[in-house]
Amino acid sequence: MSTRRNVFGVHGVTQAFLPLLARSRGAIVNNLSTAALVPIPIVPACSMSKAAALSLTQSQRMLLADQGVRVHAVFTGPTDTDMNREFDFPKASPESVARAIFDGVENQEEDIFPDSMSQTMAAGWRSGPG
Ligand SMILES: NC(=O)c1ccc[n+]([C@@H]2O[C@H](COP(=O)([O-])OP(=O)(O)OC[C@H]3O[C@@H](n4cnc5c(N)ncnc54)[C@H](OP(=O)(O)O)[C@@H]3O)[C@@H](O)[C@H]2O)c1
Repeated sequence: MSTRRNVFGVHGVTQAFLPLLARSRGAIVNNLSTAALVPIPIVPACSMSKAAALSLTQSQRMLLADQGVRVHAVFTGPTDTDMNREFDFPKASPESVARAIFDGVENQEEDIFPDSMSQTMAAGWRSGPG
């Protein structure tokens, strides 16, 4: 289920919108997760599919550059949505995460870390071999 939605779903939606995106020289924003970088052991299917979605995102970025389509990866940390309503741990507000994603797109950041938890990983990721 996670793989169908997080990997094949992302690929299918991209393919469907690609002609329009190329014409408008638009942008794709793939909402991944910090789990794409560091797996969360209690949700292995989610972690594996987000890591695969990161790989897909990096390939899309290279493959679609020629068509003028930018591809952003968003490494979202814990956010207060329906998905994890029952878990009691610190979460960013959806509004602040959404705002940070739009700011990242506007500033042409390829990799966006939209909350305080994800930002702790940003420097390590940006200085790594990826
Ligand atoms: N919340 C977090 O802590 C967190 C952290 C990292 C990454 N993310 C990522 O952020 C994204 C959004 O998650 P969320 O927290 O907003 O989750 P959510 O509260 O569970 O909302 C998921 C949304 O996706 C829609 N959806 C699910 N399957 C779909 C499908 N097959 N086709 C079309 N729409 C579908 C749902 O629509 P319906 O309501 O109509 O079912 C719902 O609006 C996900 O990719 C998630 O992995 C979230």
